Amino acid sequence: MGSLQNPSIPIVNLSAFTRDSTSYERKQAAAKLSQCCRLNGFVGITGHGMPTDLLDKVFAMSKRLFDLPLEEKLKAPHPEGWTPHRGYSGIGRENGGAKGALDAGDQAKMDPDDVSGLNMMTMKQESYEVGSEYNKEDYNIWLPEEVLPGFRDLSLEIYWRVNEIAVAVLDALIMSLELNVEEADYVRKIHTGHANQLRLLHYPPMPRDAFKAEEHSRLGAHTDGRYDYHPSITEMPSYSLSEPLLTTVRLNSTFTFDFQDANQGLEFLDRQTGKFVEARPKNGVMYMNIGDMLMRLSNGCYPAGTHRVIIPVASRTPRYSIPYFVSVDPDAVVAPQASCVGPGDRPRYEPITFRDFRDELFKATQVRDNDQVS
Ligand SMILES: [Fe+2]
Repeated sequence: MGSLQNPSIPIVNLSAFTRDSTSYERKQAAAKLSQCCRLNGFVGITGHGMPTDLLDKVFAMSKRLFDLPLEEKLKAPHPEGWTPHRGYSGIGRENGGAKGALDAGDQAKMDPDDVSGLNMMTMKQESYEVGSEYNKEDYNIWLPEEVLPGFRDLSLEIYWRVNEIAVAVLDALIMSLELNVEEADYVRKIHTGHANQLRLLHYPPMPRDAFKAEEHSRLGAHTDGRYDYHPSITEMPSYSLSEPLLTTVRLNSTFTFDFQDANQGLEFLDRQTGKFVEARPKNGVMYMNIGDMLMRLSNGCYPAGTHRVIIPVASRTPRYSIPYFVSVDPDAVVAPQASCVGPGDRPRYEPITFRDFRDELFKATQVRDNDQVS
């Protein structure tokens, strides 16, 4: 079922979960999904039901957003600190651990063609985060309507449309893990959709020289829960589930959908070979990586997919992408589900709320960052 052009990334058709289907069809699709997720924690999905015209409209809107003058974009600034994780972050504003790598004044002065001063953990992208209007903790920060008419409505439309897909995919994942009824109910209950995050991203064209220290990485290798400092992850022969936590981006998820434009760059780590595999943009294919929360819920049966964004060879074009993070509610307890603990195995992760998990990672980040400074 894989693609001839891109044989290393398995593709699963999940239409059995997005339209009327038989129990047999759902089981077949879930079995294939299970097979793929156990390997590397990433998969390409077709049959997801995302309307192409809606996605095209959102990419066009995203381009209009990032084409705005900086002072206009800064009318919806991401606040200092960790929460809320919403609004606009300029280039260099976001680093692996927290906001604040550059303050708003620095952003305004920054030459987008000169990134030589950015440190390794600083992400060379601009982003705009959107969430549920009912999320009072991570509350949305909007541009004034006249700055970009229709932006708010379209952002919320796609947010909830993609959540419908997330609900279907969660059903597929639940079936693929063979959770029992109580476990399945619980896992559904802690995914209300209000903790998800829509992230509009723009990676500007940049001189390749600027990336020598990072092996041409636009966004270093990480899972959606952990960030690895090492620029050269190809040196890692395999990804260990017990890898020490180094720092984090606030990109934790149960699973993440990756919508991207025609420009390549997204890569997933194949744990068997230790090599990264290109997630080539293909019509109708939505890539998905497993995040740390599902890794924990599944007791490591599904590893969190390690991924990065590189600058494709001989390409200096901008890149737009739209990841969508499907997350558990902050106070939900995430623990290995008993059905995923095999005979002779043990729960590999302590129960923890998403909030505590996030905070512990944040503290680890501060320790690591302080160590680096001293
Ligand atoms: Fe990610």
